[in-house]
Amino acid sequence: MSVPVRSMFDTIAKRYDTLNHLLSGGRDLVWRRKAVGYLPRLGPNARVLDLCGGTGDFAAALRKSGRADSNAPCLLGDFSRPMLALAAPKNIAVTAVVLDALNPPVKAASLDVVLCGFGMRNLDDTTAGVRVIHALLKPGGTFVTLEFFRPANVFSRFFYGVLAPLFIPFTGRALGSRRTAYVYLVESVRRFKSAEEYAALCRAEGFADVRVMTYDFGIAHAVVASKRP
Ligand SMILES: C[S@@+](CC[C@H](N)C(=O)[O-])C[C@H]1O[C@@H](n2cnc3c(N)ncnc32)[C@H](O)[C@@H]1O
Repeated sequence: MSVPVRSMFDTIAKRYDTLNHLLSGGRDLVWRRKAVGYLPRLGPNARVLDLCGGTGDFAAALRKSGRADSNAPCLLGDFSRPMLALAAPKNIAVTAVVLDALNPPVKAASLDVVLCGFGMRNLDDTTAGVRVIHALLKPGGTFVTLEFFRPANVFSRFFYGVLAPLFIPFTGRALGSRRTAYVYLVESVRRFKSAEEYAALCRAEGFADVRVMTYDFGIAHAVVASKRP
């Protein structure tokens, strides 16, 4: 578990939602809505974990989509208490759990769906994260990753190489957050795997039907994968 990453999210928690919506021009809400749209309609007892769930917006998108029964159990797991605390007023009907994504206190093969929105990039070990999630899912379960992957086309290279380093740390700072947090955001995207490399990792860790969806010319991607029945 990365203590510097956790304290960074603890520090920016109060401004996280505002900055997220502002910096993406509201597109983050659209990306989450589209990403949950790849899930099948879940039964009333389906168990969902929103891993690295932060302030709960991915779980909220799932509830809004109507794909999960409003009473179906949904865990919101994150290692930052201040991020989780901000989910409470949203009334998403989730159970917030403070946990480390690489060592979650969840029974193996007990979940129907794992969501991870903009969280995989922050883990100390991406391969270990994918392996853990595969172990938590029931056979036939679905894993939906929404992420900013390393840019792989001219537009996204220009966006993350030139535009983002200029306006993201500046906007973060202007709204009262530490500039370093937003330098980290851009740097972590450029250091991460490409969406295709991540999809290959999911296949190598045993997932089937791995599909990559590109949003806004490669600024964000969803990767949807199933655990073999
Ligand atoms: C960029 S935020 C994403 C929040 C939310 N999923 C969303 O869609 O807005 C990343 C979250 O991952 C959490 N996180 C990072 N590494 C983690 C780890 N090892 N275990 C648990 N949570 C982690 C952070 O605390 C933070 O809340």
